[in-house]
Amino acid sequence: MTPRRVPSTTEALLQLAQRMPKAELHLHIEGSLEPELAFRLAERNGVRLNYPSVEALRAAYAFKNLQEFLDIYYTGMSVLLKEEDFYDLTWAYLLRVHQDNVVHVEMFFDPQAHLKRGIPLGVQISGIRRALSDGKKQLGISSRLILSFLRHLSEESAFETLELAQPFLDQLDGFGLDSSEIGHPPEKFARVFAKCREGGFRITAHAGEEGPPAYVHQALDVLQVDRIDHGNHSLEDAALVQRLADEGKILTVCPLSNLKLCVVKSMAQHPILTMLEQGLRATVNSDDPAYFGGYVNDNYRALIEHLPLTREHLYDLAHNAFDGAWVSAEEKAHHLNELNRAFARA
Ligand code: ADE
Ligand code: ZN
Repeated sequence: MTPRRVPSTTEALLQLAQRMPKAELHLHIEGSLEPELAFRLAERNGVRLNYPSVEALRAAYAFKNLQEFLDIYYTGMSVLLKEEDFYDLTWAYLLRVHQDNVVHVEMFFDPQAHLKRGIPLGVQISGIRRALSDGKKQLGISSRLILSFLRHLSEESAFETLELAQPFLDQLDGFGLDSSEIGHPPEKFARVFAKCREGGFRITAHAGEEGPPAYVHQALDVLQVDRIDHGNHSLEDAALVQRLADEGKILTVCPLSNLKLCVVKSMAQHPILTMLEQGLRATVNSDDPAYFGGYVNDNYRALIEHLPLTREHLYDLAHNAFDGAWVSAEEKAHHLNELNRAFARA
């Protein structure tokens, strides 16, 4: 069989996307649980999974919307019981994205989903942090850890979680808001995020993934977020687009996630280029790579293969991610210098 001819420009862009250093700013560590690891941890911990095989579990990853995914995502977490489980999960992700030339990651974890199963917060944070520390030492990947509140639960539950987090605040870099969006607007968590901000923490929130532009407005006005996670539905509100552009807000966009959760009908209709053209500072991220069919480079590949992406777009997307990272000015300058070198060589 003759190989499919790929235009050389597409091939060159794919190689550049692979080779360039990248920051990932939107990654749920529990969403990187590959079926193979889920079965290994299930066996190790004596947990029963409701699927007969890795293939059967993977075959269940067909979703019509966010909620269908979340139902499977929260069930999958049942294999995470011990410190070393959180370590193994995080280490597997870091090893995988090292191949993608990811040099910095800002990851979410969902403590309430584990507390509910009786896993202490210290166990969760210790396992994740130990792997992040090894990631820095052995792979050169720097990281930030973001505690994400589940918005389908009450504000009281978020406050209880924040209280439990007090002994570990030095191991956290920011707070986020995720889970079922519609019916759970950002304003529901106004006071808990005010408290996080008082503590000097950065804030980000999922907004406009399935929810309306009003939720993005609330994330900005009420929560006073530093970044918006997803933000797709912002495009329906011209004044909001103008505001996001004027404020230079970073959007952590997740193309394969959007496709898998039917936020977009096809990759060819993904709005990421429209976002850039309208002055929005979009970035490319994997969200829950084990469930959505790929890690960061797979997301870049999907965009390159289905949209008229140029070298300049690629540069802007990667640049925005380093610029939006919660790192020092020195670290930022270092990463941007490396990015420039990768483009100068290309
Ligand atoms: N939790 C994990 N992935 C999520 C997503 N894409 N949206 C909302 N909550 C999530
Ligand atoms: Zn997400």
